[in-house]
Amino acid sequence: MLETKRLILRPAVLEDAPHLYELNSDFEVVRYTGDSSLKTVLEAETQIKERMFPQFQKYKMGRFSVTLKDGTYLGWCGLRYFPESDEVDLGYRFMKKHWGQGYATEASLVTLKYGFETLNLKRIIAKAMPDNVGSIKVMQKMGMTFRGYHKDPCEPQAWIVYDMTASEFKNKCAES
Ligand SMILES: CC(C)(COP(=O)(O)OP(=O)(O)OC[C@H]1O[C@@H](n2cnc3c(N)ncnc32)[C@H](O)[C@@H]1OP(=O)(O)O)[C@@H](O)C(=O)NCCC(=O)NCCS
Repeated sequence: MLETKRLILRPAVLEDAPHLYELNSDFEVVRYTGDSSLKTVLEAETQIKERMFPQFQKYKMGRFSVTLKDGTYLGWCGLRYFPESDEVDLGYRFMKKHWGQGYATEASLVTLKYGFETLNLKRIIAKAMPDNVGSIKVMQKMGMTFRGYHKDPCEPQAWIVYDMTASEFKNKCAES
């Protein structure tokens, strides 16, 4: 479990399924993610079991559920390992009613700290569709660096790629 001034980040549990379903049912939330909406709470449960649990079991990382200290569910933020490219990706997704309050940036910073200082990762990337201005702003606010574009042959659009290395993170912490 990770904690910040306002937030708790913890591995997802099956009880999060109704929240995850609500989150992914909002077109504006999934608009720039490349994901289709979840059709039922059961589908959300399956996603937690088949995608989120194995990441934590295999790699000690995954998408954390993010809540306020009083337990209010805000969304998720966390790391995902892609074995095919040997890259660790930072991602985040929050309920629309909670946007614009700095939660994604606060959750992402403690997640980067976990990745670099607990898991000893060397590099963490973050990708966004070029029109996803809010997401790109979060990457910039964290001090990540623009590295270019990535286009998967089976996807229609290219993704903007930012990254941060362990030494860049250390320098950033020393400055603040
Ligand atoms: C992207 C997302 C996670 C940001 O969450 P958030 O908690 O609102 O983020 P923060 O408040 O920490 O920071 C967002 C920043 O982007 C800015 N921003 C958001 N939308 C913007 C837009 N359309 N144009 C310009 N700036 C924008 C905010 O003003 C804020 O900057 P500021 O702190 O300088 O004012 C949230 O919008 C979301 O869940 N979107 C849907 C899922 C998604 O797209 N995830 C990313 C996939 S790559």
